[in-house]
This record gives sequence, C-alpha cells and structure tokens, in this order.
Amino acid sequence: MVDKEQFETVGDGLLVRAPAKINLSLLVAGQRPDGYHELETIMAKVNWYDEILIEPGLKAGIELLCQGPQWAPAGEENLIYQAAKLLLQCCGLITDIKITLTKNIPAGSGLGSASSDAAATLMGLNQYLDIKLPNRQLAKLAPQLGSDVAFFLSGPLALCKGRGEKNKKLGENFNFLALLILPNVSVSTKKVYANYKHDSALYQRLKTRTNRYIQKNRIDLVVKMCANMLQTSSFGLVEGLAELKAKIESLGIGPCCLSGSGSTIFYIIDSGDEERARQYKHKVEEKIGCKSIIVRNNRW
Ligand code: C5P
Repeated sequence: MVDKEQFETVGDGLLVRAPAKINLSLLVAGQRPDGYHELETIMAKVNWYDEILIEPGLKAGIELLCQGPQWAPAGEENLIYQAAKLLLQCCGLITDIKITLTKNIPAGSGLGSASSDAAATLMGLNQYLDIKLPNRQLAKLAPQLGSDVAFFLSGPLALCKGRGEKNKKLGENFNFLALLILPNVSVSTKKVYANYKHDSALYQRLKTRTNRYIQKNRIDLVVKMCANMLQTSSFGLVEGLAELKAKIESLGIGPCCLSGSGSTIFYIIDSGDEERARQYKHKVEEKIGCKSIIVRNNRW
C-alpha cells in the first residue's frame, strides 16, 4: 500500500485522509475522579485511511453522507458531524457544507477510526473554509469530541497521557510493517473501561520498563512487551478474542498485541520484510479464516 498525502484537491472539493492508529503500548495508571482513566499509551498512525470529501453544500447546514465497505452512523450521531458543528460554532460561521465519508476502517476495532475522522474534519474544514485556526486551537477543541482525537492532529508517533489527549511526539519515527488481523466484531470502548480492574503493581512494572526503552528511543523493545492493560477486560467481554490471539501465535506469528480496547490484533514486522508479512497474512487467512491487512507506519 502506497503512502498518500493527507490533503488532495478534487474538483471544487477537498479530500482529507483519516489514518488508522495502533497502540504500541497501553498502560492504565488508574481511574480519575471524573470517571476517565489516566493513560500512558504510545500510538502510531498507519497508512490505512478513511476518506472525507468536503464540498460546497447543496442543502442548508451540514450534510453528511456515508459510503464504503464499513458501516458508520449517519447524521448527528457521527463524530464528523459533531466536529464540523463544533468548529463552525466556535468560529461563529454559518455555512452550507457537504461531507462524504468513505468508511474503510471498521468502527469498534481499536484503530481509532471515528476519532481520526473527527480530527481530519477539523483540519479539513479549517483549510477548506480558510479559517486558519492554528493547530493548538484545534487541539483545544479535540477532547470535546473524544480522548484520542488530539493525537490525530499531530503524530505520526506519540506518547499520549491524560485521558489520551496530551501528546508528546516521539523523536525519531519508528519504521515498521504491521499485520492487522481484523475479527469481524465491534467492541465498545466504554464497556471495556467499565469492566477494567486496575492492577497498580502491574502498572508500576510496565511503566518502569517502557520508560527505560522510551528514553533510549527503543520503541522496537516497547513493542515486544505487547503491554496492553485493557486486554484482560476486552478478552473477558469479547467471546473468542483470546482464543483467536492464541491461535495466531500457535502459527508462529507472535507475540501479537491487542490495539486499544480491541478487536484488532496486530503483529509488528521489520519494515523491509514484506515477504514475511505476505506469508503471515496468507497463513492467518488460510488457517484461521480471519481477514487481515498489511500496513506501514504513516509518514504524517
Ligand atoms: O473519549 P472517548 O469518547 O473516546 O471514550 C469513550 C469512553 O471510554 C468514555 O466515555 C469513558 O467511559 C472511557 N474512557 C476512559 N478513559 C479514557 C478514555 C476513555 O475511561 N482515558
């Protein structure tokens, strides 16, 4: 898959690409008084995209159309609609706009697609309507839409803290290929957090190791830990997910990691080893019958 640019002019519209992410590590520090969980997570964008086309409106207000292989909620329920409304309100703008979403990345798969769509909408409308808000202003709006929306305004590789909205770009980019294994199941992030049981000793252990590796810029070693503290909760809620991971690993593809609250399971491969990535994809599809896709770390 070739890396594409994020913005492209199409006729009198603007096409914005919204990449998926994977969590290379996900530590939960504990629950906060506001109910959210305090996180330390390394997120990396990958070159698999939803597409958002912004065009002049034909109807009054914001019109959102959804198409493509994956389902997405239409109208006001969609974060794209909410992002557009928030940005227009915040700038005191009243305009008619048509947005067409081509949904390629499945919702509820731990790949952040709705959050990425929201961030792409903020950036796209900012450019298309010549609003010229600086990125830090967009980042102030982002947490109102979702915890990891701010990450998608920056990246492509960052350590995210707080609810997930405080991002620190990680120095050098970490180049990788990843096999994303996509069970056909949508997971509710809210339910996974509600089912989460905190283990502070585990958090301390994982934090000490990940911090050491991050300081040395050895993201490759962080990845090998496959540290995702939401995994136990997600596996407890989603039937067959733990078994699927075990099956993949029994094929010699592992250790595998869960992305976010699931359901995607991923395996990181050296960036030059495309042949191995293709072999593993074939194995997973032939022996397990599960859909998978090969992606790379995204450039932007
Ligand atoms: O922020 P977002 O809307 O993506 O989060 C969905 C739900 O996941 C929240 O309503 C909350 O219950 C839970 N969550 C959490 N701690 C976080 C992020 C999300 O408890 N850091």
